[in-house]
Parts: sequence; structure tokens; C-alpha cells
Amino acid sequence: MENPFRPSFGVNPPLLVGRDAELLDFVDALESGPGAPGRATLYTGLRGVGKTVMLNEAESLARERGWVVVSETGVPGIVDRLVQSRLPEVAAQLEVAVGGAETRRRLTSVSLPFHLGGVTWQPPAAAQQLDLRAQINALTDHLADHSTGLLITVDELHRADRAGMRELVATLQHCFREQRPIAFAGAGLPAAITDLLNDDVLTFLRRADRHHLGAVDPADVSDALRTPLHAAGYEITDAALDMATRGTGGYPFLIQLVGYWTCRTLTNGQPTTLIDTTAAAAGVQAARRRLGSLVHEPALQDLSDVDRTFLTAMALDQGPSRTATIADRMGVDTNYAAQYRRRLIAADLITPAGHGRIDYTLPQLREYLREHAASSVDHEDLQPAAPEHPSPSTGM
Ligand SMILES: Nc1ncnc2c1ncn2[C@@H]1O[C@H](COP(=O)(O)OP(=O)(O)O)[C@@H](O)[C@H]1O
Ligand SMILES: [Mg+2]
Repeated sequence: MENPFRPSFGVNPPLLVGRDAELLDFVDALESGPGAPGRATLYTGLRGVGKTVMLNEAESLARERGWVVVSETGVPGIVDRLVQSRLPEVAAQLEVAVGGAETRRRLTSVSLPFHLGGVTWQPPAAAQQLDLRAQINALTDHLADHSTGLLITVDELHRADRAGMRELVATLQHCFREQRPIAFAGAGLPAAITDLLNDDVLTFLRRADRHHLGAVDPADVSDALRTPLHAAGYEITDAALDMATRGTGGYPFLIQLVGYWTCRTLTNGQPTTLIDTTAAAAGVQAARRRLGSLVHEPALQDLSDVDRTFLTAMALDQGPSRTATIADRMGVDTNYAAQYRRRLIAADLITPAGHGRIDYTLPQLREYLREHAASSVDHEDLQPAAPEHPSPSTGM
């Protein structure tokens, strides 16, 4: 039987839930015309919370309204890619897309190759001569004539090179000021976006609509599990649905993982389409095991040993940790620990939790570190905890 769930990054879920308000804001922005605040939108949130999927949705909403979409990822060289490939490609596609008899005649009367705002659009090689602003101006002049617009999306903004972002944002700012039909949607990790917004040249982005994507409500989670299950021919008992729903903690990636592994372990055993609590429990357990390699491991692997030791020292606590306690456990002074605290907050792995405490941002990271501490850090490096905290041997 087909497994309806999609536990992969960047892949649209069978049913997207809990994001209606954010999507409506974007539709409003497209339909309200230049100047609407949502014409520049930022989606922030943790790995696996659904940022890329939101950009995918924003892109479809724009395309449905006849908009042209340019989709980019924030790896260095963004302006070069836009200028040399993406924008010329779009211009070329427009020629093809408007190939219906009536429109073709209209366009031909304007003149081909594509005549855009007084600039004759050449194939990519020659188009390289036009800079970012000139290309976007030409394209938006043309799109304005057709009452549509240009949407530029940039995923993984936290990885973009600063010089490229400055040029792109300055260009967008000009376009907004000139009331051009253009929209921008970006996505990235929260701490890195905050860092980006602190750049003096990027103040324009501070006025963007900012949506922090978080956990999804239990009712929505149940819907995101039940509807695809039913459509694929599965049945699920109320108790099992409840268990699966709680097992996700509202974390979108876990919705797909729990759904997927529940179906997968079910068909592994006896041939049945009924999901009971035994099957749901197995699915939740299998999903949570995968979260380690799919989310925790990649998040940890770029870190230094000291960063990891810091995070592992936090796992000795049942809830938010005090920096001073972590410094004690690591056998280092508080200033040194504070430096790593800052680094880890910037990397979005921990977040201030009030009263000088810090906590993990990713679900289940504490449990993951407790399970893997023995292999990833040398226990002997961690000093015994302060008396009010559990010691390494009892805490793990
Ligand atoms: N609102 C949602 N409802 C159901 N599943 C979702 C939702 N948002 C994301 N997902 C699923 O979660 C996973 C991670 O989404 P993704 O957009 O790649 O996250 P991010 O870009 O924030 O790391 C994907 O499998 C996606 O299908
Ligand atoms: Mg993503």
C-alpha cells in the first residue's frame, strides 16, 4: 500500500496544516498591489519547521495569479546567479509562455526578441551585460503591462553572502520605492535572520512581514495525519491518532516522520490497514529514532568539540540550564562559557529561556545528547554537577 507521507526536507506534505494565516497574508500582499507590507516576507524557524514548504506555497500562490517566480537559495554568488541565469531564463520562458496565438501577435507587434522597457532582451550571454537592477526593471516593466509581477524567493538566507544580500536588498528597495510589481519572500534560521536584520545596509528587510513558524496545534496535527491516511485507505483508531499526534509535539517534520513510520512498520508486520495504539507507538518510536540522524546529527556536526561539550553538559539538567552551572561542569570560567553560549545562540541551537537560563531549540535534542553522550564526548571532561543538579551518572 502506498505510504502517503513525505518525510523529506523541502518536499511538500500531503496536507499542509496550521499555516492558513501566514498564507492568507501573502495572498493579500499579492492582491493589494505595490506597497503592501507583505510584499517583503520573511519566514523564520528551526530546521524542519516548514520554512521551505512555505516558500513553495508562496510560489504556487504567486504562479496561480500569473506571477513569474524566481527561486534561489542563499549560497554565495546569489547576484551572479540571478544576473547570469535566473533572470535571463525567466525572460526566455516568458517568450515561450506567451506563445498562444493572440498573445504572440501582440508581442510580435512589440518586436522580438523580447522587447522589455526599451531594452531588447538578448539570449543569456548578452544579457550578462545588464546588472541586477536593469534586468529587474526591464522584467517588471513588462510584467506591469500584463498586470502581474515578479516574485523572488531566497531559501536558507542564513547562508547567503552579505555582499550579495546587500545588492539584492538595495535593488528590492528601489523597486518598492518605484511601486514596481515585485515581491520577495525569504526563509532562514531565526538567529541568523536577526543578525542579517542588524546589518545597517539591510534595514529595508526590517520592515518585511516576519513570520516565525512554530509548532502546529494538536487539532491540525491530527488532521495532517488522519486525512492523508484515510485518502490512502488506512483506518486509525481515536486512541492511536491521539498517541501519534502527541508523539509529534506539533513539530512539522515529525508529523511526516511519525505518519511515515506508522504506515511503514504496519505493513512490515501483518497485512492490515488498521492503525491501533500498538502500531502508533511503534511509529512514534521509529520516527523519533530518525530525528537524531535527520535533524540532530546535521545540526551538531558543524560544531566544534567545545560547542558539543557545552550542549552535552546542558543535557544533565531536566529543563533550562544556567550558564554558570555549565561553566562548572566544563571546568572553565564563566566568560569562556558565555562566549560559547553566544556562539550557540547565533547557531540557533540554544535560546535564552529567561532568568539567565538557556534551553535547547530543537525538540528531543536533550534525549539525543543523553543517548549519544558516551560516544560524542569524553564523560571524564565533565565536572560533577553542582549539588542541586543531577550528577552525570544519574542524569544520563
Ligand atoms: N505545516 C505543515 N504541515 C505538515 N507537514 C509539514 C508542514 N510544514 C512542513 N512539513 C513537513 O516537514 C518537513 C520539513 O519541512 P521543510 O519545509 O523542509 O522545513 P525547513 O525548511 O524549515 O527545514 C517536510 O517533510 C514537510 O513536508
Ligand atoms: Mg528548508
